[in-house]
Amino acid sequence: MATLIDGKQISQQVIDEVATEVADFSAQYGSAPGLAVVLVGEDPASQVYVRNKVKRAEEVGMNSIEHRLPMDCSQETLNKLIDELNANPAVHGILVQLPLPDHLNEEEVIEAISAEKDVDGFHPMNVGALACGEATLIPCTPLGCMIMLKQQFGDLSGKNAVVIGRSNIVGKPMAALLLQANCTVTIVHSRTQNIESICSQADIVVAAIGKPEFVNSGWVKPGAVVIDVGINAIERDGRRKLVGDVDFADVEPIASAITPVPGGVGPMTIACLMKNTLTAAKALEAKREQTLKAS
Ligand code: GUN
Repeated sequence: MATLIDGKQISQQVIDEVATEVADFSAQYGSAPGLAVVLVGEDPASQVYVRNKVKRAEEVGMNSIEHRLPMDCSQETLNKLIDELNANPAVHGILVQLPLPDHLNEEEVIEAISAEKDVDGFHPMNVGALACGEATLIPCTPLGCMIMLKQQFGDLSGKNAVVIGRSNIVGKPMAALLLQANCTVTIVHSRTQNIESICSQADIVVAAIGKPEFVNSGWVKPGAVVIDVGINAIERDGRRKLVGDVDFADVEPIASAITPVPGGVGPMTIACLMKNTLTAAKALEAKREQTLKAS
């Protein structure tokens, strides 16, 4: 039987730390950190994610502003909103929920967000900083996975880690963080040959492929630690159910530790968004103070 890595509990620790620091920040600067969340269209899953992000921000004492744009909104309208948020001193963090409708250019949107307010860590400046080991704003899901892994293992040095999936949101930044923590890192993906045999060598498996219950016990070395990033809605026995990218019932008996879905990576992602918003707010306000002093 594997140890369950309790994302709810670990995320609450992160949230409590952030809330304490937010109170200090608000006392020092006279207003709370501000997070702007932008949602284009009405994708039901995105609506739930955005609602949870806004709710959590308010719980930790931040100001949270939700901007909803219609499905058919133009690139110009979205860019204009981002420009306004970039210029607004009360906004310290900007998040545009992805995926965007097909007619909008995701890269252009990500690059339009000021790197200092990019609490997702998706801007090329922040991606570059992560590659150099100098990042301050790190993508929330991989950051959450690392916090859980460090709680489980302590030092990760020398571990064989396999990341399944190569997305910009999870797979690539996850691999960068594991490498920075001195793991030996392999990324496998849809074109990888012998994917099962590569995965089954790993001490740490991070599954981020977006395919329900794809990873089974044949992929996992007995005693490995398994982090399941997937959140897939499926129907089973006539009921809607959330499952991960890992077949939990099959893998749990052989893993040494595993994250559940729900209650694993999901709450960590939101907690890390709060952490990043606080980091951005502190850096922006410190910079403003410096500028004032110098003038
Ligand atoms: N869609 C799925 N995950 C994320 C995320 O971490 N940030 C944003 N902006 N969109 C997402």
